[in-house]
Amino acid sequence: MVTPDCDTHDTDQPASTNQTQHPTNQEATVPTAPTSDQPVPAPRTVVVTGANRGIGRAIAERFVANGDRVATLYRGGDLPDGVLGAVADVTDTAAVDAAFTQIEQELGAVEVLVANAGVTRDQLLMRMSDEEFTSVLDVNLTGTFRCVRRASKGMIRQRRGRIVLISSVIGLYGGAGQVNYAASKAALVGMARSITRELGGRGITANVVAPGFIETAMTAQLPQERQDAYKATIPAGRFAQPDEVAAAVQFLASDEAGYISGAVLPVDGGLGMGH
Ligand SMILES: NC(=O)c1ccc[n+]([C@@H]2O[C@H](COP(=O)([O-])OP(=O)(O)OC[C@H]3O[C@@H](n4cnc5c(N)ncnc54)[C@H](OP(=O)(O)O)[C@@H]3O)[C@@H](O)[C@H]2O)c1
Repeated sequence: MVTPDCDTHDTDQPASTNQTQHPTNQEATVPTAPTSDQPVPAPRTVVVTGANRGIGRAIAERFVANGDRVATLYRGGDLPDGVLGAVADVTDTAAVDAAFTQIEQELGAVEVLVANAGVTRDQLLMRMSDEEFTSVLDVNLTGTFRCVRRASKGMIRQRRGRIVLISSVIGLYGGAGQVNYAASKAALVGMARSITRELGGRGITANVVAPGFIETAMTAQLPQERQDAYKATIPAGRFAQPDEVAAAVQFLASDEAGYISGAVLPVDGGLGMGH
């Protein structure tokens, strides 16, 4: 069984302090003059959780390049130029709420939320502890809920918003040793569809991106023969770059995607087809 995102990332990180890291490159958040006849879309305030590394970082970089005002809820580490950091652990409701308040004060009402922060703690079903199960759910599912609930306040007021939830091919395909992770990622589909039914009439869309095997530091650590075995099961015959996920997210967050909601967009080279 292919397990594109199987690994153990525990959440034993420093407690949230709600400090703000200011963008190191302010120019990156300022819209530049048009370079063609196309009008430049107004910059939006975009929040990407976990933009300090991996897929979240690539997503944040894309929005910065687009001229948007980009912020992240993150636990530490360095951020891409032009990204405002608000320190918060997504398992901490008060910290999440405070981070959004800070971001709104500094960058304006949040129009786009990308709920990317996620963890895996793989274990065989018979050996999985309650804590191994619930801790993954607390980050991947409840953490996403905390961010969506807080972000939706401003979106409802503005009568516009884009919510993109980062799931996984494993959510609908399943993964041995990943009942916690798969359950948390499958639940995001129900969440996005319920948000769509609740808020779809207010100019807000909610969609899911389901990445397959993405080249990150984690996958780079796999032995070459295992990487080759995984690739053999992927119709595209290769892993993806984080920016390929970011491109799908950017599309779903765009004006052009205004009539797409409750959808699951796979970015998996065909691995999960039909699931
Ligand atoms: N890589 C893949 O092949 C793949 C495939 C399918 C889906 N995905 C999904 O894509 C998303 C990003 O994955 P990735 O590969 O970029 O993983 P990654 O490199 O492990 O990054 C995970 C990010 O989530 C953050 N995070 C974890 N727990 C958090 C918490 N409690 N509060 C706040 N932030 C937290 C991490 O922050 P720290 O740096 O502080 O730990 C980090 O920024 C995840 O939701 C993952 O499930 C990944």
